[in-house]
Amino acid sequence: MLDFAQFSSPFFLLFLPLLLLFLINKIFSSKTTKDSAEFPKSYPLIGHLIPLLQLDGLGRFQWISRLVATSPSSTFILNRPFRGRNVLTADPATVEHILKTRFPIYQKGPYQKNILRDLLGDGIFNADGETWKFQRQVASHEFNTKSLRKFVETVVDTELSDRLIPILSKAAKNNEVLDLQDILQRFAFDNICKISFGYDPEYLSPSLPQAKFAVAFEEATLLSAKRFRTLLPILWKTKRFLNIGSERRLREAALEIWEFANSIVKRKMQEIQNKTEEATSMETEDLLSRFLKSGHSDEKFVTDIVISFILAGRDTTSSALTWFFWLLHKNKRVEEEILREINKTEKHSQDTEHSSVFAEVKDMAYTHAAITESIRLYPPVAIDTKEAAADDILPDGTPVKKGMWVTYHPYAMGRVEKLWGPNWAEYQPERWLKLEEGENGAEGKWRFVPRDPYSFPVFQAGPRVCLGKEMAYLQMKRVVARVLGRFRVVPAEKEGFEPVYAPGLTAKMQGGFPVRIEERVETD
Ligand code: HEM
Repeated sequence: MLDFAQFSSPFFLLFLPLLLLFLINKIFSSKTTKDSAEFPKSYPLIGHLIPLLQLDGLGRFQWISRLVATSPSSTFILNRPFRGRNVLTADPATVEHILKTRFPIYQKGPYQKNILRDLLGDGIFNADGETWKFQRQVASHEFNTKSLRKFVETVVDTELSDRLIPILSKAAKNNEVLDLQDILQRFAFDNICKISFGYDPEYLSPSLPQAKFAVAFEEATLLSAKRFRTLLPILWKTKRFLNIGSERRLREAALEIWEFANSIVKRKMQEIQNKTEEATSMETEDLLSRFLKSGHSDEKFVTDIVISFILAGRDTTSSALTWFFWLLHKNKRVEEEILREINKTEKHSQDTEHSSVFAEVKDMAYTHAAITESIRLYPPVAIDTKEAAADDILPDGTPVKKGMWVTYHPYAMGRVEKLWGPNWAEYQPERWLKLEEGENGAEGKWRFVPRDPYSFPVFQAGPRVCLGKEMAYLQMKRVVARVLGRFRVVPAEKEGFEPVYAPGLTAKMQGGFPVRIEERVETD
């Protein structure tokens, strides 16, 4: 029987007006589309709930991106239902303000850390203050020239020669379809584990095993990102409290990941105990050993650190390269130019006695520009949010209250006409290059011309700039040189296929990237 008492419950008192507003808005806005970036209405308490309800997660992301990119001030204030104002910006001056000038004010903050704590614990991606500073300081030793050289010449090249190239070659021979995004994730995962933890998970192997850990990682990152998007945070918090539905799955996946990372830590602790002092000198140490010997060797804390590094290393370069190979397919001219650079570099290293792989890779300016242009359009980290720890005023005069979210938006920034010109939508590596004249009539040489990091904050900027930027470029350029030098990567989907950019903790190509591989020169 219908119980009328339920209509006076707080639930109905709150949601009936919402429902009415939604219906009114539906009727009056039936002719407007979210394709046009008109500024939406905001209502007391519920803020922009109505336009947000009209779109799914991906639609909301694209709609907000357009508002930010096309707003005259390059900044849009989203009134989040029950959460308050969220400044979203693509304005370089504001980005510099939050990432550098007023760095101590703009932190991860308690709200965001709570969202990510189940997956990342106190690891570097989810830490502020002294905890962050300590991790940053210890980790920064990992990215010196010596480590980077070892990384590209030993780790990356071995993974290429022993695993990636044979898998691609077999796929070419058998005309198999591969999910390139999955293959590149496996490649990057082996790489980061080897260089950072001295451990080889052999995830990129010919049978492409579906490891429990990797499945859990995929699920946990998706579900954690979903918490950010939830319009009513009380919903995920209640589900977490009751341990039901997606929150139960997140808890299970996070536990699986934690056990995997903890087993790496335990193995390393044992290794350190067994080794003589000489064998574990600082010279040969990996990141994990450094942390374990740093005096803060609490197993839980070091396990959190391992999880953050896996996230940093696995999903970023694989996402960047996936979109890069897609863009090359659409821009044959760029592919030809890269091939010319690869051939020139190879010839130069044959002619030069002391040339090293490290020097070769560092030198490939056109390839560097082509990758940079690709992450301008498809950044592996789409947006990044800070929480104000005190009241402040942004350079354009926008007041910020303590606890407010201020988000810089690399994806929208790559689409701002003021920053990139009217041809911002075109894939043009040349916008990052200057052709230097050769000496004595010799052929000219490309030189990479970087943009200031606040106009192009794909690697963040300021004191928390990505620690792995150089490592990432070395890895990506070496993959491009060795893969593209030998193979053509051809999308397996029908002509007309348009991949979807799916933002999350790191952005992906939705559903993966099915490709066929063709040998440039038939080997037999
Ligand atoms: C194309 C590749 C990459 C991109 C676009 C990228 C981007 C970023 C961004 C946007 C951040 C800031 C995240 C935040 O604070 O919320 C970050 C931080 C970081 N990245 Fe990367 N990253 C890449 C590759 C890597 C790689 C290969 C590593 C190697 C381990 C790495 C290590 C780190 C670390 C340790 C931090 C934390 C820095 C800190 O908080 O002080 N990144 N990266």
